Amino acid sequence: MADDINNDNLLERIGKLVSEYKESLSIAQDLIALESLEIKILGRKSELTNILKNIKDLKDPQDKKRVGQEANFAKQTLEKLLSEKKESIKKDYLANVEIKEKLDITLPGTKFETGHIHPVTQMIALCEDIFMKMGFDVYYPNAIDDDYHNFETVNLPPNHPARDSWDTFWTEDDHIAITHTSSMQNRILSSKNPPIRAIVPGRCFRHEATDARHEHTFNQIEGIYVDKGVNLTNMLGVLQEFFSKFYEKEVKVKFTPDFFPFVEPGGMMSLSCILCDGKGCSVCKQTGWLEILGCGMIHPKVLEMANIDPNTYSGFAWGFGVERLIMLKYDINDIRLFYSGNLDFLKQF
Ligand code: PHE
Repeated sequence: MADDINNDNLLERIGKLVSEYKESLSIAQDLIALESLEIKILGRKSELTNILKNIKDLKDPQDKKRVGQEANFAKQTLEKLLSEKKESIKKDYLANVEIKEKLDITLPGTKFETGHIHPVTQMIALCEDIFMKMGFDVYYPNAIDDDYHNFETVNLPPNHPARDSWDTFWTEDDHIAITHTSSMQNRILSSKNPPIRAIVPGRCFRHEATDARHEHTFNQIEGIYVDKGVNLTNMLGVLQEFFSKFYEKEVKVKFTPDFFPFVEPGGMMSLSCILCDGKGCSVCKQTGWLEILGCGMIHPKVLEMANIDPNTYSGFAWGFGVERLIMLKYDINDIRLFYSGNLDFLKQF
């Protein structure tokens, strides 16, 4: 210790150090600040440590005793203050952390919007499921096909007036956006041997003025069944079974003659009204029946074009619109909703 530092100076210096450090301690905000203060106050190179280290060099034993007592007392005081301050910083931190980093596990999490399968696709899957359980295979049509498959093979030769009911979109090289899933009849019939049981779900297109019941783009499910001795009653049985499964209730079916060039006899099949169970309502126009699909016994010419002998085999075919079926299932009054991209509508399925 430097000679000029006498006993009084030292005592004064210790007193100053204590009040200086007390001041610093009082303003320290966190444990990091406190740690560097601790080094400064009590570390190996601190002034107080230095004073303590050099007490032994004081000549006067009296001084040694006083300075020693004072310096040690200062050290203890500061140690105590340091640990008290450490505790209070920790306590404050823990009290605040609950507020600052509070985790409320009852709050709803961040919801990621994921899309889901379109109602029409869901319903096609349901139809496929029902028909597959009845032994039908599933085929998908070409979206664009040729005149031969869409028209000629189903007994609609060029210039046949009935083509008008299937007016559609043509490409410049005479291909068409298919007007019905009957476009697959010939492909299926000519590639397999009876018994043939197949359905064809697919998108169809028609040059159509749209309204609540008509769309230029819609989905159809074609069905064909060819074997020995197949008759119209078999068809009505298959379709009645399908509709009872699809609507999850017993339904009645009725056949009324109508004309399609590819079936003979051909007709419309009606279903007892799903909404009023046949009692009569605005949807079935008080008749209790809904005309739901075109069907009939496959025309002998159609079988012949697929190299199936109409004298040995017979078969039936039908085609229905999927959207119309769904509209009845869920009481939807406008077909255009399906392709409107209206999420309020779509999210309900
Ligand atoms: N293809 C016909 C249509 O689109 C429906 C149908 C299919 C009718 C099979 C009879 C037999 O209207």
